[in-house]
Amino acid sequence: MPDYWNHRFAGEGMIWGSEPSPSAEWAKEKFREAGVSTVLVPGAGYGRNTKSFATEFTVYGIELSEPALELAREWDPATAFIAGSALEPQLTAPVDAVYCYDVLHLFLAEDRRRLIDASLAQVRQGGLLYFTSFSDEDPNYGCGTELEPGTYEYKQDKYAHFFSEAGLLAEFAGTEILETGTYTETLHSPQGGTHEYILRTILARKQVETALPSF
Ligand SMILES: C[S@@+](CC[C@H](N)C(=O)[O-])C[C@H]1O[C@@H](n2cnc3c(N)ncnc32)[C@H](O)[C@@H]1O
Repeated sequence: MPDYWNHRFAGEGMIWGSEPSPSAEWAKEKFREAGVSTVLVPGAGYGRNTKSFATEFTVYGIELSEPALELAREWDPATAFIAGSALEPQLTAPVDAVYCYDVLHLFLAEDRRRLIDASLAQVRQGGLLYFTSFSDEDPNYGCGTELEPGTYEYKQDKYAHFFSEAGLLAEFAGTEILETGTYTETLHSPQGGTHEYILRTILARKQVETALPSF
């Protein structure tokens, strides 16, 4: 997968333009209401969404692609970008919230689990998680070879998992689900093209562990 993203960022630059996703604005509102001050963005790309959070919060972005990191450090100098995998914890101290846009659906089941576990490991107890991912209502759902239940190679050498509402809730089992939603994201390329995807969103809270009384 790194080769795919390296090739795209090196060749196309800011692939989805410079505007943040509307979901970043919705997440920001929720984070603001909850008194969040630190945010982690796993799979941060070239900083399209981190830049929107960085106006209000201390932001950390984890990204695997070096060409994306080069663009990100220039576009969003306020965010601390970490070169590495979002499938493993990278931070030394927990944040108040995680925002993860369209990264979860890129993985097969085992690595989806690792992404969520790494995110949970890096957010404080009672902290928030806001994730977006492809929906099974998207027209690409069911296209191409099915690699795992709900995961399709919908373009040559490119696969994604398409989430049902129940499937997304199951991934976040063990957290407190605050909200789910669905919307159509319209992406604008710098070349003037547009592309639409139907996404699902989920807002969850990491459980607060209560110490058992000792007798
Ligand atoms: C669909 S893009 C979304 C980018 C970004 N979230 C945004 O909103 O613009 C997926 C991103 O995840 C990154 N990525 C893929 N696998 C990763 C991994 N294991 N660790 C960190 N980043 C990864 C890719 O390099 C790419 O930047």
